[in-house]
Amino acid sequence: MKRSRKPSVRRIALSTGGGDAPGLNAVIRGVVMTAHHYGWECVGIRDGYAGLLDPPAEGSGMMRLTPERVRNITHLGGTIIGTTNVGNPLHFPTRLASGRIVERDRSGELVRAFRRAKIDALVAIGGDGSLAIANVLSKKGLRVIGVPKTIDNDLSHTAATFGFDTAVSFATECIERLHTTAASHRRVIVVEVMGRYAGWIAMNAGVSSDAHVILMPEIPYRIERVAAAIRERDRRGAHYSIVVVAEGARPKGGHRSVLEKRLGAAERLGGIGQRVASELGALTGKETRQIVLGHLLRGGPPTTFDRLLSLRFGGAAVRALAEGRSGVMVALAPPTVRYVPLAKVTRKIRNVPPGCDTIRTARDLGICFGD
Ligand code: F6P
Repeated sequence: MKRSRKPSVRRIALSTGGGDAPGLNAVIRGVVMTAHHYGWECVGIRDGYAGLLDPPAEGSGMMRLTPERVRNITHLGGTIIGTTNVGNPLHFPTRLASGRIVERDRSGELVRAFRRAKIDALVAIGGDGSLAIANVLSKKGLRVIGVPKTIDNDLSHTAATFGFDTAVSFATECIERLHTTAASHRRVIVVEVMGRYAGWIAMNAGVSSDAHVILMPEIPYRIERVAAAIRERDRRGAHYSIVVVAEGARPKGGHRSVLEKRLGAAERLGGIGQRVASELGALTGKETRQIVLGHLLRGGPPTTFDRLLSLRFGGAAVRALAEGRSGVMVALAPPTVRYVPLAKVTRKIRNVPPGCDTIRTARDLGICFGD
């Protein structure tokens, strides 16, 4: 963790990278208003780092962020400066003369672009991919503070990421609504939720909405066990079942459902809900439906928790710069925020510990995990 004695910050750039998450605009507001308090200027880089690396032919790849520009955006979903989860500058897809596409490291070029734009410091708001980029930029001499964002809640060294609470709240509401229709038709309804390689959304929303089965990456399932749990519910007179499946869930000894593998970007997951639904239909003989909540979990206004957390993260990021810090991520350590070296955070994603109390409570409540 670097800490210089005299910060000479005048101009901060903000970047929002990866999938959008409710609360991004609140972080932007937190950063801009706090920077204004210190007399510093802010600019937003459009679409991750694209605005600096490949600025548009017309217009600007940067957006001046004044207090007026960030007025009344705390409650707005999305990000006013745009984001992208393709074109990672560390693994940038580049077409060779032969037509072959290879990955190229453009981080040196990016650092030079920062210098040319007279940017003294960067607040990088993103998930593990974006924070890994931030860590490299910091190692190359740029003053950087990271802010942990993701609906997946899979970042280590922070008690929470912003966006997660909103995603879980909305998923819970959706799943709740499926109970009555599933019960009326005596159906099995399978709900696929996002979360990448972690089951935080599936677990929290599933338990909170009284789902009967939760399948998640941390606990590989056996479909026969799930079918048996559904048949057992039938025997007890409960003729419907709600099955929540994390997009990264996989059967024991089997693979995750991958929709697409892309150069310079993470693989796209999806399809496990459909698979589980058709297998359960065949095994139980029950009428089965499936629904994918997908990007609905990333939209809409952030919850109060996410708004407050985002504003706090934004403020803390600028205070970190004022204190001469760099190469750190703002992290929630209730009741306060602290700073963690970026290098530590990007080493490993955080999964649900299978023995945690929420899983134990779920099992006590009779929820099946298919194991
Ligand atoms: O990381 C956030 C996330 O929403 C994941 O839960 C999901 O796997 C992925 O992004 C989806 O990305 P895309 O927007 O490319 O479909």
